[in-house]
Amino acid sequence: MPAKGVKRLRARAGAGVPRILRGVKRIQAWFPTLVYGAPLRPDGTAFNRELLRECHQFRDFDDAGRKWSAKSYPGGYTSYGSIDRVHTVSSTFMELEKRIDRHVRAFAKALDWDLGGRGLKMSDCWINIMPHRVAHSLHLHPNSVVSGTYYVATPRGCPGLKFEDPRMSRFMAAPPRAEGVRPENRPYITYPAAAGNVILFESWLRHEVPSNPVKSERISISFNYDWT
Ligand code: NI
Repeated sequence: MPAKGVKRLRARAGAGVPRILRGVKRIQAWFPTLVYGAPLRPDGTAFNRELLRECHQFRDFDDAGRKWSAKSYPGGYTSYGSIDRVHTVSSTFMELEKRIDRHVRAFAKALDWDLGGRGLKMSDCWINIMPHRVAHSLHLHPNSVVSGTYYVATPRGCPGLKFEDPRMSRFMAAPPRAEGVRPENRPYITYPAAAGNVILFESWLRHEVPSNPVKSERISISFNYDWT
């Protein structure tokens, strides 16, 4: 039994806690940054093979895109500067859009978004082919609400998608993170790139793809969704 004085002290400490916080855990995490990752589904080995074939086809006939890539995506190919709405010109990519829609709806639900009778619609969709040593530096996707990537070919050892803590510019004098830091407290987190999987994030979240250290091509399809 604690002494009477100790009991009194404890009672006084409890009394100092604002009523609104009584019964609340001492430390909670607020303002989470959600990143969504899942297999595309329905199972699509054949579907993925067809996407892979078309990615190569687009690269082969897209002269303007290869020219644009030589300047803006050195060493690789992207259709971003030439055919940035692939889902409107290929029925395979239209099917991809349909399959991704389901995931975007689930993501919006997890974010508790009130879409006010409007919907989320794929606005841009483009192909990225990254051979050996090609990288995509830190960026975000302005003018959209949800962005993401579907992975078509991910050779073993190819880089994942690296996200930056969006509060980075506010850290000011914060000490560095300790060794063994928990994943949620890391300033960067990397999602592995796995063929057949889709990753979604809010378009303001900065991300990058580090240099591809393996000889084989890493192939992905990126996209934006608008609230429309
Ligand atoms: Ni991006």
